[in-house]
Amino acid sequence: MKTVNKTPIWFMRQAGRYLPEYRKIRTEKKNFLDLCFSPKLAASISLQPIERFDLDFIILFSDILVIPHSLNQKVVFKERIGPVLNPIKTVNDLDYKNFNVCLERISAVFETIEILKKKKGEKKLIGFCGGPFTVMNYMIEGGISVNHKKIKDFIRDSRQEAKSIINMITEISIEYLKRQILSGVDFVQVFESWAGLLEEKDFEEFIIKPNALISKKIKEFSKETQIIHFPRGAKGNILKFLKNVYCDVISLDEEITEEAMEIIKSKDLIIQGNLHPMDLFNGGEKLQRKILKILRRFKKHKHIFNLSHGILPKTPIENVERTVKIVRDFNET
Ligand code: CP3
Repeated sequence: MKTVNKTPIWFMRQAGRYLPEYRKIRTEKKNFLDLCFSPKLAASISLQPIERFDLDFIILFSDILVIPHSLNQKVVFKERIGPVLNPIKTVNDLDYKNFNVCLERISAVFETIEILKKKKGEKKLIGFCGGPFTVMNYMIEGGISVNHKKIKDFIRDSRQEAKSIINMITEISIEYLKRQILSGVDFVQVFESWAGLLEEKDFEEFIIKPNALISKKIKEFSKETQIIHFPRGAKGNILKFLKNVYCDVISLDEEITEEAMEIIKSKDLIIQGNLHPMDLFNGGEKLQRKILKILRRFKKHKHIFNLSHGILPKTPIENVERTVKIVRDFNET
């Protein structure tokens, strides 16, 4: 009898432009956020990769930038440019007097979750928010940035203001995740995609503190909810992160030290990752080799197979299909 591998699999950014069925629905809304705020469409997009590849996790279709929108900062998505925000300079540029009012602006997301809860069956549903620093980065930079000069200058020159803003984002993110949990998600992932920009004191203040507070408050609110942290690019700082931030699952990029693996082992954390999106994009024999290497490396751990960052928009679908098959067929002991 053939044994099947039990390593679950999903892909960061699994619902998106590499899928023709996504591109078709995408044309119905000019502004991307309108799509995120259309519960029926957003729910059907969330299920597209599950229908195609039978993945083990459904991730809510939304975006981390609904949080600036909830705080009344203007966010639009421009074709071929990405998100464009009216940059803020102080916390007073945000409207946050009442969190219920803020969450009301993005309440369609909770309706999407309620639809998915009814349809998820055996699959696990993942909700998410951006890591507070990553969200603040977009709020200050006003969109995608190459050198991140504005955010770096801001936390150096206007530190108190930066602390007020990050506290605000952290608080609203906690309330936002609580509402996602009440609506039906099983896991929450915190996407701290720009954790690699900061060092030392800044890393402690703007990455560790806010992420630790999110974990603490969410675990107090709901013990059963599993928390996935993704401090992308943290390199050596991941040690401090793992020591100070509660995680059930740690999502890894490619750079992972033996010391970090020791902590992961001692805390018995679930590892998520860590195939490079370029390897998935390129395919071929190298893809198979990389997948097997990852499966062998983590086979003594609890492991969720995933990428080290989001799927690339032009990724060939057959490479995704092949990856799922290789992971499912892996049966070495
Ligand atoms: O994973 C999923 O399938 C769920 C949906 C999801 C999206 N964005 C949909 C999306 C999730 C979890 C995100 C997270 C997100 N959004 C992050 C963190 C993860 C990461 O990739 O680092 C960040 C930084 C954002 C902000 C964002 N959203 C940017 C910078 C962009 C433009 C560039 C890009 O990757 O497209 C987006 C747009 C976006 N978010 C799209 C999708 C499907 C494409 C929008 C379109 O169709 O025009």
